[in-house]
Amino acid sequence: MKIFIDSADVNEIKKYLSWGLCQGVTTNPTICLKCGVKGGLEGIKQRTIEIARLINPCPVSVEVASDKVEEVISQARECSKLAENVVIKITITDRQGNSLLPAVYQLAREGISINVTTMTTFNQAILAAIALRSGFEGAGQKPKYNFISIFAGRISEEQGVEQAFRVLKNFREWLDFHKFREIEIIVGSIRSPENVELWSRSGAHILTIPPEFIQKSLISARTKETVVQFINDAEKSINELEGKNQ
Ligand code: E4P
Repeated sequence: MKIFIDSADVNEIKKYLSWGLCQGVTTNPTICLKCGVKGGLEGIKQRTIEIARLINPCPVSVEVASDKVEEVISQARECSKLAENVVIKITITDRQGNSLLPAVYQLAREGISINVTTMTTFNQAILAAIALRSGFEGAGQKPKYNFISIFAGRISEEQGVEQAFRVLKNFREWLDFHKFREIEIIVGSIRSPENVELWSRSGAHILTIPPEFIQKSLISARTKETVVQFINDAEKSINELEGKNQ
């Protein structure tokens, strides 16, 4: 299993890179706004280039800023040229619930790495996987990455964490059964360290974690207490030794 950082904050990404906990980055328009990215799509592109350089060769996902098939296709083509490790995020439907799979299929056929995103049901996930595979199977040069993002946090807010777990587990089993080896599942919209624990056992290939939940996942009162005990005793024994040597 891999960990991606769900953030466009360059300092946070640098921090977790240096901990060995960043095998990729995911962003979306909301994350970019929250991380102070200004200037619309141009601003998003600049930040994407910065992140792509920083984490190269790991992938950074950037979301297009339109839900119209033709615009999605042209923005995706443009953004895919920003760097070799850029993956284009496309929502499974538009705002009205109309399919954006024509864009997914077309772009995958062109060999562009796609992350089909905002999925909250098993059926959406299998349809996206089939469209994606039909696309990249016909590509001259195969895309480097093919991701399906399941928004487990949003599923669990409505239907509970166990339902989110079931969708992830069933989808992984389905991918394996039908030998969709090139497609990786990303678990998105993580809301707590407990989500990290449960969904890391769901069979998903990647967990994309907002930085605050990596930090929170490290904290345990018992661990802190134990470290205090060890350090105090280490200092006692050093002081004792220094006392003897004087
Ligand atoms: C990841 O790829 C997603 O963009 C992210 O996890 C979205 O989560 P949200 O439900 O907090 O918007």
